[in-house]
Amino acid sequence: MRLVKYMVILLFVVFPLMAYTAEKAKTIDELAKMYDVSSCKACHAKIYEEWEKSMHARSLFGTGRTAGTFKRTITEGLMNIFTQSGVKEIKNIKVDHLSWCLKCHLPQIKNATDEVAQQLAKAFVEEDVETLEKVNINCLVCHNLKAIVHKWQDGEPDKGVIYGSKNGAHPGTSYKTMKKSPIMKEVVACGQCHGLGPNLEFPQPSQCATLYGSYLHAYIPLGGTETCQDCHMKKDGKGHLMPAYRDMEMRKRAVDMRVETLTYKFLVARGDAIPMAVVRVWITNNAGHRIPDG
Ligand code: HEC
Ligand code: HEC
Ligand code: HEC
Ligand code: HEC
Ligand code: HEC
Repeated sequence: MRLVKYMVILLFVVFPLMAYTAEKAKTIDELAKMYDVSSCKACHAKIYEEWEKSMHARSLFGTGRTAGTFKRTITEGLMNIFTQSGVKEIKNIKVDHLSWCLKCHLPQIKNATDEVAQQLAKAFVEEDVETLEKVNINCLVCHNLKAIVHKWQDGEPDKGVIYGSKNGAHPGTSYKTMKKSPIMKEVVACGQCHGLGPNLEFPQPSQCATLYGSYLHAYIPLGGTETCQDCHMKKDGKGHLMPAYRDMEMRKRAVDMRVETLTYKFLVARGDAIPMAVVRVWITNNAGHRIPDG
């Protein structure tokens, strides 16, 4: 009888717990290794170099503003203003406390333990850029982790599979199989992170990126036909760099401006001649969504 009891405990408590923790990274380095893409460079050199320069490759640091805002979210938000968060010190931080940001800035955090959340929080607070740049939105995040959206239909992404535009072999790599992702060419591939609006599923909703909402509810109803991939990857041939306003060509494409001068005269007031113009200005947004965002 006692043996049966131990067997039951082993089977239903200990083994599942072991499997649960075994799959999760316990350090930032382990998480980085789980999503290591250094091997991709050998065969996809051009794409790798484009991606390396992109904001996705520094999704925790950004231009510096991102890391700074994360730091304030932890020190001023979680540890101070959010009195019900349960966080007083870094050691109280759990993955759930960072998910409302990392859902999009580092979705692989779901495969990490609370220790990793604490190590990341420490790196944000100490402005440890080198550590923050070890993990990011890389090839495997888009071509595996986030390559399937409708999981009741298409299942979870398989380990060791690269998702792209077709099925086949992917020889010479530890990702031996290539499968067609149902969404890679669809806007929802980007929309998963480039948000619809407030993320109400979290205890403390966050609102960061809202472009996908604007794309769906403004651009499409006004007759827009292009995808995120068309404008950000294909048009200027910038591929995986996926640029925005920091890129001169993107900036030029963003808006059209027309100015019409109706009258121009000198207004004489208190003996001074003050030049005065009445003008009409048209600004047209050519992006596929509201700008700016974030
Ligand atoms: C040994 C060379 C090699 C390495 C290393 C390699 N790939 Fe590939 N990959 C290929 C080749 C060749 C194809 C094209 C296969 C075809 O077109 O039939 C391919 C196809 C792909 C595709 C699908 C392209 C499509 O048509 O949609 C993706 C995505 C991809 N690789 C990502 C990766 C990632 C991510 C890594 C690193 C983990 C990687 N590859 C490492 C050679 C390689
Ligand atoms: C729904 C996904 C999502 C969530 C949740 C999210 N972000 Fe973002 N964030 C993005 C995307 C995508 C961008 C960049 C594109 C843009 O600005 O639309 C961005 C941009 C930013 C920027 C601006 C960077 C710059 O230089 O302009 C900061 C700062 C930032 N995020 C911090 C945070 C913090 C802190 C949290 C949590 C409180 C958070 N984000 C939650 C997706 C998200
Ligand atoms: C932010 C998401 C994202 C990241 C990060 C990303 N990709 Fe892609 N990749 C895409 C999308 C979307 C497409 C399909 C574009 C299309 O055809 O509309 C694509 C297409 C491809 C293709 C096939 C088409 C082509 O351009 O040759 C390959 C190969 C590929 N990616 C490899 C990589 C590698 C290698 C990395 C890392 C260095 C990487 N990707 C990082 C989203 C991503
Ligand atoms: C896993 C989440 C995720 C996915 C998927 C994703 N992005 Fe992003 N993207 C981000 C985050 C987070 C940032 C902001 C990083 C920062 O500045 O802190 C960003 C930044 C950008 C930027 C701003 C670049 C700049 O230079 O300012 C563009 C453009 C962009 N993404 C386009 C795309 C497109 C197009 C796709 C789909 C092919 C895509 N993204 C898919 C999360 C994602
Ligand atoms: C019709 C072309 C077009 C389409 C479609 C489009 N974009 Fe853009 N996008 C632009 C242009 C042009 C800019 C540059 C203006 C700017 O950054 O302010 C831009 C800017 C951005 C930025 C930077 C926002 C900021 O704060 O300035 C992000 C992020 C972005 N796009 C993501 C996306 C995503 C995700 C999609 C799909 C849901 C998408 N775009 C669809 C043309 C497009």
